[in-house]
Amino acid sequence: MKAKVVLLGPPGCGKGTQAEKMGDDLGYVKLSTGDMLREAVRNQTELGMKAKGYMDSGALVPNDLIIGLMKEKIAGLDKILLDGFPRTVEQADALAEQVEVDLAINIDVDDAELINRLTQRRSCPECNAVYHLTNKPPAKEGVCDKCGSQLYQRDDDTEATVKNRLEVYRQNTFPLIEYYEKKGKLVTIPGVGDIEEIYAKIKAALE
Ligand code: AP5
Repeated sequence: MKAKVVLLGPPGCGKGTQAEKMGDDLGYVKLSTGDMLREAVRNQTELGMKAKGYMDSGALVPNDLIIGLMKEKIAGLDKILLDGFPRTVEQADALAEQVEVDLAINIDVDDAELINRLTQRRSCPECNAVYHLTNKPPAKEGVCDKCGSQLYQRDDDTEATVKNRLEVYRQNTFPLIEYYEKKGKLVTIPGVGDIEEIYAKIKAALE
């Protein structure tokens, strides 16, 4: 099974949803930069205070902050799943200096579907589980199935900010598809349809 795995794809394509399943089921250590940054914002750490303005507007947090953070987290881990990192070619080059990526999985979803998913997403602030008001509702309205916490809507999940995030993705992160394709490490998986069916395709690609 591939050990060093990167999840690529636009905001809302399902990286977090699939990463959660891969972590629970296949024993990957899941490192999500978005979750780490949101926790830093909640705890008002120095990193959180620097990152907040960028995140609220849908912009990327500067490379130097992210690269330093991820270098520390990745060190010494064997089976890792990177969700939301790298996001720029500079981040990908920094990652390549530290570990060799075995597979980059690009989850492909069109913009109209992404906007629907993100504006209807609800997230758990404690365990980072994600739900959707109609596609994946929790058993009890507003409450996380996994840990019982109150669900919330992310500040950057408004329609205007989502549109900006999609533009930021196209300019900065989309080029990573070609980056990993050239290295022979890319697989693209259609991300529309049943969550379990998409997961089965990801699992097959990992073998
Ligand atoms: P981050 O949290 O990484 O946001 P993102 O990439 O925009 O991704 P999302 O979490 O929005 O979406 P997802 O693909 O995980 O989809 P999900 O599974 O939740 O980053 C947030 C911010 O932090 C960035 O904007 C930036 O400021 C900063 N940041 C993070 N990393 C950075 C980096 N490396 N460099 C610089 N800045 C960085 O699913 C979405 C919804 O769809 C859910 O409601 C879900 O239930 C539903 N859904 C999932 N799959 C399906 C399906 N198959 N069918 C129907 N619905 C589905």
